[in-house]
Amino acid sequence: MSEPIIKVAGLKKRFDKDGVEINVLKGVNLDVNKGDFITIMGPSGAGKSTFLHIVGALDRPTEGEVLFRNRNVQTFTEDEESRFRNEKVGFIFQFYHLLQDFNVFENIMMPLLIKGMDTGEAIKKAEGFLEVVGLAGRKSHKPGELSGGEQQRVAIARALINEPEVILADEPTGNLDRKTGREVLDYILMMNERLSSTLILVTHDPQVGAIGKRRFTMVDGELFDAER
Ligand SMILES: Nc1ncnc2c1ncn2[C@@H]1O[C@H](COP(=O)(O)OP(=O)(O)OP(=O)(O)O)[C@@H](O)[C@H]1O
Ligand SMILES: [Mg+2]
Repeated sequence: MSEPIIKVAGLKKRFDKDGVEINVLKGVNLDVNKGDFITIMGPSGAGKSTFLHIVGALDRPTEGEVLFRNRNVQTFTEDEESRFRNEKVGFIFQFYHLLQDFNVFENIMMPLLIKGMDTGEAIKKAEGFLEVVGLAGRKSHKPGELSGGEQQRVAIARALINEPEVILADEPTGNLDRKTGREVLDYILMMNERLSSTLILVTHDPQVGAIGKRRFTMVDGELFDAER
């Protein structure tokens, strides 16, 4: 067995709010192998988003560590951390987090330009991804001029355009009706398959949780294997 692509060890997160300590993550361990498709379910407030943010280096743990390819992400230099977020990990959020002042095409192309890709090449690649998520006809629209499902497809294309090794999706269908949610999920799964990436998906929806190849439940800051 090769090294896990992500190894989470003894992860704890504590927030201090108005002098009150909240232990949100209480020692989470998880080995994620290349190509895994992991789903995490669990009640509101259990710590799922906090966990995903720390794995994606959007937040720091209080204790414990996240290793990406055997390197502690906390020890990344600023450059390495930016590259990790922009190229190695693709984040998909419940509320899309698109850049409102930029159109669909610009939103999708942004990670390529940040990486320093030649503009002509970036345009070509963004056009391809636009096609894949079925939004070729919405190229010049601003996010506010799109439906929720369309915005989430833009967010998927943007998250995946750099072909990240790991996709972190936090309730990506939570804000959509069941049919649109299913379509959006199918796009994520299709992209995941195309890129042979690793997927960790947080969801409230038992039907979505059930399709994970490895299924976990987070309860009160602890992660449990849902199979056992
Ligand atoms: N920046 C913060 N400061 C203080 N407390 C926080 C902060 N972020 C999260 N929390 C607390 O941590 C707990 C877990 O939050 P988190 O967002 O991880 O839950 P969740 O499992 O994703 O819930 P949901 O299913 O509702 O999205 C909550 O009680 C929340 O109030
Ligand atoms: Mg959450």
